[in-house]
Amino acid sequence: MSALPNDIRLDDRHPAVADTLDVVRRGLRTKPKRLPSRLFYDERGSKLFEAICEQPEYYLTRAEIALMREHAGDIAAALGPDVRLVEYGSGSGIKTRLLLEHLPAPVAYVPVEISRSALLDSVATLSTTFPQVPMQPVCADFTQPLRLPVAVRSPRRTVIYFPGSTIGNFVARDAVAIMRLMRTEMGDNGAVLIGVDLKKDPALIEAAYNDAAGITSEFTLNMLVRLNREVGTDFDITAFAHRAHYNPMAGRIETTLVSTRRQDVHVGNEVFAFGDDEAMQVEYSCKYSLEDFAELAHKAGLRVEHVWFDAEKQFSVQYLVR
Ligand code: AVI
Repeated sequence: MSALPNDIRLDDRHPAVADTLDVVRRGLRTKPKRLPSRLFYDERGSKLFEAICEQPEYYLTRAEIALMREHAGDIAAALGPDVRLVEYGSGSGIKTRLLLEHLPAPVAYVPVEISRSALLDSVATLSTTFPQVPMQPVCADFTQPLRLPVAVRSPRRTVIYFPGSTIGNFVARDAVAIMRLMRTEMGDNGAVLIGVDLKKDPALIEAAYNDAAGITSEFTLNMLVRLNREVGTDFDITAFAHRAHYNPMAGRIETTLVSTRRQDVHVGNEVFAFGDDEAMQVEYSCKYSLEDFAELAHKAGLRVEHVWFDAEKQFSVQYLVR
């Protein structure tokens, strides 16, 4: 984990262990069992996700970077000068750099990220490349109302940047709720800049979540490693398997952890029985048509003002306003 430069303060609202234990208990009481995908992102989970982004099958990151390389200038022009850029997720990567490089005189960069280590690493790196941009990291869950830190000078516009198609990890109701929160956070003159993965050949999509090197499988199983360490559960990692398949009706990848035998798992003072081949839901990765997404945005009180694509039209970055 990197140390922050002296002039950058971390606003730390990381959830307590007791909260995580409660989330796990409640998730295992439901039928079918489910755990939220945000539990993937401890330090190792964030590293494994970065490794996924480099797998040949995982087209999303490559397509979004290609899109940003081609269109970052246009995108920055749409955002305009004196923007406060609030990123949901830690943006150490090339996408954030491309945006910051092109943005004229940004007021502040505010990354909001639940993984403290990923947040600190990204701010430490970005602050050396962009020493002139004030950074105000917030360690928090962006699905909850945020209270953004006071900006160093008044921004002309607050733009919420949500790359990577992470919005696809939420079911429609929750995605709308998050976009409603963004709408409040950004204010009247604000905007949302959001990465949205598009519907395409299901075989291509399915391959992206079942890479040959097995990194995605390691990433999925790491959720259990993390829970064993952090909240004292006793998941037998060798008796669960990663399974990801595309559900064409729902337009999403459904990732589960499948119990490979009958077994009991202890969570606090409760015991949960898993059957042989019982699947526990751990992630959805929704894919959209332009119409699907415009409708979702509309439900959140937002309008799609502009859409940029990569050359193969696999991925989109969309600019939403009130
Ligand atoms: C972060 N999110 C958009 C990724 C996705 O594609 O749903 C997480 C991921 N899960 C498995 N591979 C990548």
